[in-house]
Amino acid sequence: MSTILNQPITPLDAATIRADFPILNQPLTDGQKSFVFLDSAASSQKPAVVIEALDDYYRRYNANIHRGVYHISELATSKYEEARHIVASFINAASPNECIFVRNTTEAVNLVAQTWGRRNLRENDLIVSTVLEHHSNLVPWQMIAEETGATIAYVPLTSDQRLDMAAFDNLLKREPKLVAVTHVSNGVGTVNDIAMIAAKAHAAGALILVDGAQSAPHLPIDVQSLDLDFLAFSGHKMLGPMGSGVLYGKKKLLDAMPPFMGGGGMIRKVTLEGTTYADVPARFEAGTPAVGEAIGLGVAIEYLANLGMDRIFAHEQEVVAYALEALAEVPGLTIYGPTDPAQRSGVVAFTLGDIHPHDVAAILDSENVAVRAGHHCNQPLVRELGVVATTRASFYVYNTPSDADRLVAALHKANSIFGLA
Ligand SMILES: Cc1ncc(COP(=O)(O)O)c(C=O)c1O
Repeated sequence: MSTILNQPITPLDAATIRADFPILNQPLTDGQKSFVFLDSAASSQKPAVVIEALDDYYRRYNANIHRGVYHISELATSKYEEARHIVASFINAASPNECIFVRNTTEAVNLVAQTWGRRNLRENDLIVSTVLEHHSNLVPWQMIAEETGATIAYVPLTSDQRLDMAAFDNLLKREPKLVAVTHVSNGVGTVNDIAMIAAKAHAAGALILVDGAQSAPHLPIDVQSLDLDFLAFSGHKMLGPMGSGVLYGKKKLLDAMPPFMGGGGMIRKVTLEGTTYADVPARFEAGTPAVGEAIGLGVAIEYLANLGMDRIFAHEQEVVAYALEALAEVPGLTIYGPTDPAQRSGVVAFTLGDIHPHDVAAILDSENVAVRAGHHCNQPLVRELGVVATTRASFYVYNTPSDADRLVAALHKANSIFGLA
């Protein structure tokens, strides 16, 4: 039995969950080892219910939304809007209108940078971000800073890649307009104390934008109790379809933001002289949206909510704690990220002696263990680690301790191929 916030939690049965994922249960060729998928931080696998929801949409009621008066268009519209309600209740938004469907986290952050940022940032205004950020929560701010004359200051890291909170406090004294921070690091798995960061940002007069790409899939998020101004996340990392994502924003902020893209669906009235814009969320959903994908995301979220986000987080922490212990036995392995398991997510990034991380990943693949190698869109962070790249294993709801065993066995093989142990 695990605990979260000292409440007992009934453990998940990952083996049963695994049966819901067709890709993890494909027939094996002779002598092939079972497939171990450890790259959910890049994109998760999809359960049958999500695949079936997409299939159902395209087979039965594929139609554009908000326009047609015929019944399949009305059905598609109501399912699309129902998905928005599901998203809103998943993150406890005050209203579904605070949830904008986008393609992914990247688009959500760019939307805020290009609309709120362009309207509100001026020369010498300060944006506070961190060295942990994925490029998606870094480059959009650099772009808008260059355009507006705003500056960016980055919270440095401790030696085990947690945010240096004393340095953050000092930066807040410079009265930033915005704090743009990741909830959970995709590079090293650090889980940031977002409630505390949001409270401090607000006390300093700043808004907070949280990159939830690696948290929304893995732990409970309540945007009201955390008091977040903006939250961005990707559906494809949380069992949903590719091309589905969400920007949450407080209604009063979204209402005051100009549109991101112009076109169909986002207008109130168009004349040759000018245009007035629709209310949110339509104002930010120009053009034909990914209808089936949004509906599929709703189904994915219902699947996650049925399992329970607190149970999912507890499950991952257990599997990762097991993995960290088992990995400690691999000669030459350096693991990055917080030493305290309670401050880690399901991401485990490492290097193995001098073996190039891509070579390690290729050897793991030869054992049918899928991981990722590279800079993980975290170049400043990887530079800070003093390496060119890392190999990253990321665990999710369908992973079990035996997946960690397979990872460890494959790493021993890498060591023996390179003559290290
Ligand atoms: C922390 C974090 N932020 C942002 C992103 C970008 O997500 P997407 O490619 O879905 O826009 C990722 C993807 O890996 C991520 O891990």
